[in-house]
Amino acid sequence: MSSPGSLSEPAMKILIHQTRALATDCAASLIAARLNRQPDTVLGLATGGTMEMVYADLIARHRAGKVSFAQATSFNLDEYVGLAGTHRCSYRHYMREKLFDHVDMDPARAFLPQGDAPDAEVEAARYEAAIAAAGDIGLQLLGLGLNGHIGFNEPTSSLSSLTRIKTLTRSTREANARFFDDPKDVPRLAITMGIGTILRAQEVVLLAYGAEKADVVARMIEGPVAAACPASALQMHRKVTIVLDEAAASALELRDYYEQVHPRVENASS
Ligand code: GLP
Repeated sequence: MSSPGSLSEPAMKILIHQTRALATDCAASLIAARLNRQPDTVLGLATGGTMEMVYADLIARHRAGKVSFAQATSFNLDEYVGLAGTHRCSYRHYMREKLFDHVDMDPARAFLPQGDAPDAEVEAARYEAAIAAAGDIGLQLLGLGLNGHIGFNEPTSSLSSLTRIKTLTRSTREANARFFDDPKDVPRLAITMGIGTILRAQEVVLLAYGAEKADVVARMIEGPVAAACPASALQMHRKVTIVLDEAAASALELRDYYEQVHPRVENASS
């Protein structure tokens, strides 16, 4: 039985760091530690601006001989419907450019949904089955959408959903327009792991940075579990670490409590 306050209690672990750089180092350390402990981990990978920093950190660790992906398998959360993996704005292209081409990951074990599959629904079902056949995700990395989405599970997604096609909200298409030449080019549909798929992961690490995420971070951690904020479903998971910078943590009511339970290493050592 665990003692009161034991860090092994199932709970959301909230880690608040002074800067994005420190938060990124923390997240990369968690991933590297998992791979070092279990080299054949099934990783669940994410895209977006926040992840770029994490992947750059992991590449540096790999080059320094501190982490290997050689035996790992990965499944990305999502992909735009209609984009071939060779398309500059596809998530497969993002992953090659930001991570896969720079580490020793076996390309034959780095999976994403096929955005240009002839039948997206069939592809979604195939992808879900492939994740299950791999034994589900060991460590799932997540970013957080401004509207509370994880993967492309937009608000009102079923909290038990599996991999499927989702229509993107206007706010998500606007947020992601910066990656496209013309905002009109942002696809309207995506194939995404479901919330139920994500909740089956053994361990989840979610990152959110910046003041613009502060409100949605508070809804995810302290709000009700509700499909209106899909990330709030993580409150139901037994092993979640939320890694934040100061700005993203600024709307949390119980912030003092989180810092009391998990004091910042950079504070503790100063
Ligand atoms: C996209 C991805 C999400 C990601 C989100 C946040 O919408 N599908 O998985 O979490 O972007 O991105 P950013 O880190 O750029 O804020």
